[in-house]
Amino acid sequence: MRQRTPAYIFIPLTMIAVILAFTMVTPVDVVAEPGFNGMVNNLITHLSHVIQQGIVWAVIAIALVMLLIINALNRVVEAQKFKQLSEEEKQQYLEDSKIGFFNRLFSSASKKQTAEEEEAIIIDHGFDGIKELDNALPQWWLSLFYFGVVFCITYVLSYAFTDFAHPVSEFEAEMAYLDERDMKWAEANDITIEGAVNKSNDPAIVEEGGKIFKQNCVQCHLEGGRGGIGPNLTDDYWINHEQNDSLFLNIYDIVYNGAPHNPQMRPFGQRKELSGLAIEKVASYVYHINQVEKSLTEADGAAAPQGDLVEKWKQK
Ligand code: HEC
Repeated sequence: MRQRTPAYIFIPLTMIAVILAFTMVTPVDVVAEPGFNGMVNNLITHLSHVIQQGIVWAVIAIALVMLLIINALNRVVEAQKFKQLSEEEKQQYLEDSKIGFFNRLFSSASKKQTAEEEEAIIIDHGFDGIKELDNALPQWWLSLFYFGVVFCITYVLSYAFTDFAHPVSEFEAEMAYLDERDMKWAEANDITIEGAVNKSNDPAIVEEGGKIFKQNCVQCHLEGGRGGIGPNLTDDYWINHEQNDSLFLNIYDIVYNGAPHNPQMRPFGQRKELSGLAIEKVASYVYHINQVEKSLTEADGAAAPQGDLVEKWKQK
C-alpha cells in the first residue's frame, strides 16, 4: 500500500499554483528594467498586485477547505485499507511511514526492483542467453517528463492568452523603460546643443542612431534619408543652415528644436519624444549618411535637392 503524500506538501503546492495562476492573468503595468533585477522586481510587483485582490483570497480559502476535506477523506480510506492488510504488511507499512517524505521521494526516484520482481518483468524471449527486462521508466525521468508537459501547457496558455511573460509586450515595456532612463540621464548630464558631440566615427553609435532614425524619421525622410515629405538628408543642399556653424550641431539643433519655419519637422527634443542622448545618436547617423556615405541623387530614386548648396558642409 502506498504512503499518502502529507498535507504539508500538497496544500502549499496547490496554494503556490493558485497564486501563480492569478499572477499570470493579472495585468500589471510594471517598470520593466531589463536583466535579473528587473525580473525580480517584476515578480514582486505582480505578486503584490495579486495578493491585494479579494478574489484571490476567496479562491485560496475555498481551495484550502477542499484540500482539508480531501485530506480527511484520504485518512479514512487509508485507515480502511490498513485494516485489510496482513500483519506483515501492516508492520512494513508502519516501518515505511517512519521514513520522511523527502527521503522516500529521493529513494523512489531511482528505485530498482528486487530479484523476485525482476523475474516477473522479464520478457519471455531471448537470444544467445540475452534476455530483456520490461523495466518501468525511472521515476525521476517520468517526473521530469510530466513537469515538462505541465510547463509547456502553462507556457502556451500564458503566451497566447495573457500578457504575462509575453515577449513583445515585455520588449516594449523594456524599451519604454530604457527611453525614460536615457531621458533622465540626458537631463541630469545636460546633453544640450552645446554639449552634444558628433560621434559619427563610432560605428556602434551610428548603428544605434540608424535604429532611432527608422523609428522616428523614415516616415518623412525615407529609408537612408533619401527624402520624401522631409528633404533629402544625404545631399549638400540645406534649407536650414544659417543658425549654426557646424553641420553636426545644425542637425542636432533642428531635431531638438524643430525647423524654425516648418512645423512638420517637429521639435523632438523639446517635446521629449527623444532624449538629448538619442538625438546625439540620430544626429551622428544623419551626419554619417551625409558626410561618409555617397550622396543620393534623383538618379538613385532620391528626392530632388531643396534649399541652398552649402559649400562649407560639402562632403570632402
Ligand atoms: C512629419 C515628417 C517628419 C519627420 C517625422 C521628421 N522630419 Fe525632418 N524634416 C521634415 C521636413 C518637412 C523638413 C523640412 C523643414 C523645413 O522646410 O525647414 C525636415 C527637415 C529636417 C532636417 C533639416 C534639413 C534641411 O535641409 O534643413 C533634418 C536634419 C531633419 N529633418 C532630420 C530629421 C530627423 C533626424 C528626424 C527623426 C528624429 C526627422 N527629421 C523627422 C519632416 C520630418
